[in-house]
Amino acid sequence: MQIKYNSRYPAIDDLIKKAKRKIPRFAFEYLDGGCNEDVNLHKNTAELRTIELIPYYLQNYKPSNLHTELFGHVYDAPFGIAPVGLQGLMWPNAPEILARAAFEHNIPFILSTVTTSSIERIAEITEGRAWFQLYHPAENEIRDSIINRAASAQLPVLVILSDVPTFGYRPRDIRNGLAMPPKMTLQNILQIMGKPEWALKTLIHGQPAFATMKKYMPKGLNMRQLGLYMNKTFSGRLNEEKIKPIRDMWKGKLVIKGVASEEDTETAIKLGLDGIIVSNHGGRQLDAGQSTIHSLQPIVKNYKNKIKIMMDSGIRSGPDIARTLASGAEFAFLGRTFMYSVAALGNEGGNHAISILKTQVQQVMEQVCCPNTASFPNHLIKNS
Ligand SMILES: Cc1cc2nc3c(=O)[nH]c(=O)nc-3n(C[C@H](O)[C@H](O)[C@H](O)COP(=O)(O)O)c2cc1C
Repeated sequence: MQIKYNSRYPAIDDLIKKAKRKIPRFAFEYLDGGCNEDVNLHKNTAELRTIELIPYYLQNYKPSNLHTELFGHVYDAPFGIAPVGLQGLMWPNAPEILARAAFEHNIPFILSTVTTSSIERIAEITEGRAWFQLYHPAENEIRDSIINRAASAQLPVLVILSDVPTFGYRPRDIRNGLAMPPKMTLQNILQIMGKPEWALKTLIHGQPAFATMKKYMPKGLNMRQLGLYMNKTFSGRLNEEKIKPIRDMWKGKLVIKGVASEEDTETAIKLGLDGIIVSNHGGRQLDAGQSTIHSLQPIVKNYKNKIKIMMDSGIRSGPDIARTLASGAEFAFLGRTFMYSVAALGNEGGNHAISILKTQVQQVMEQVCCPNTASFPNHLIKNS
């Protein structure tokens, strides 16, 4: 897919500002916020940006190549779209916009269990290339049914989420009635009235619904009942006993997302998993936790080549992706960045963000004289 972006919004900050103007405050705050005092949210990006790269300006130049192999597929770039729940709340049709853009640019799109498009719809758009993220349901029957649907759709990678033993404490969402169980406040209604384009598009597309989960849910639930249902369905902590049967059932690649310690990495290797995504959920779960770049460093040092190591949280630009890869992650994922772009630019948002990021990563590679994405670690300035 050709690189094509809107030159009025060349920076992610431009998109954040525009998204904030375009969508109701409760939706923007749901996307933008971390948890508690947002310490981990800010640390993720700030500490990632202490990583420095060394350029080699006088070496023999080889053209930089963004193509990156992961789980047997060669992607056009070393980054992908992280799973985000309730995307249709931020912009109607957002998961489909992003899945289509990811497919056209040949990068991975991970579909969340709790977003507003179904496994089947996203598999169709991506010709079976999307990955699926599983929130582990309390009932094994639902677990098996969801996994079978992902297998029937021939999705190549199943990502089990580990870092939501309970929902994070998010003051803005509580204030806005978006905590569990959710409620529609007068404030929210007023905010919707102030965003006519969002309101109209939402009216046309219909109220956002948990498309993959719909078939398991009792009909006609109001918002409060829906919240209680989701809380009950996804309650519980992941452990080895819950992962083992999934490893047995799932014939494709199996990844755990939300790893932030060497101990959990060991467990993932022991259970025969194919990859981990070092992640702290974009700083939305444990405000007292480390930034992911700091969690990543010992994991790379001790487990590189024993399991595929990927990372997300706090990545907002091409240089951030370069820093992540230079630190030893083999692939980067971004969550909010793509959603800001879709909230700001609608249908154009997916291509726009991917094009900006591809351009920026390529530009960094040309600067430091890095021929391929696996060579980024040669450019890491140690102890930076
Ligand atoms: C609004 C929002 C909803 C999210 N929902 C999910 C989800 O349903 N499943 C999941 O595995 N991760 C979810 N995440 C976490 C992302 O997959 C990813 O780890 C995080 O966004 C990365 O950080 P970044 O936003 O700083 O790039 C969500 C993140 C945000 C911001």
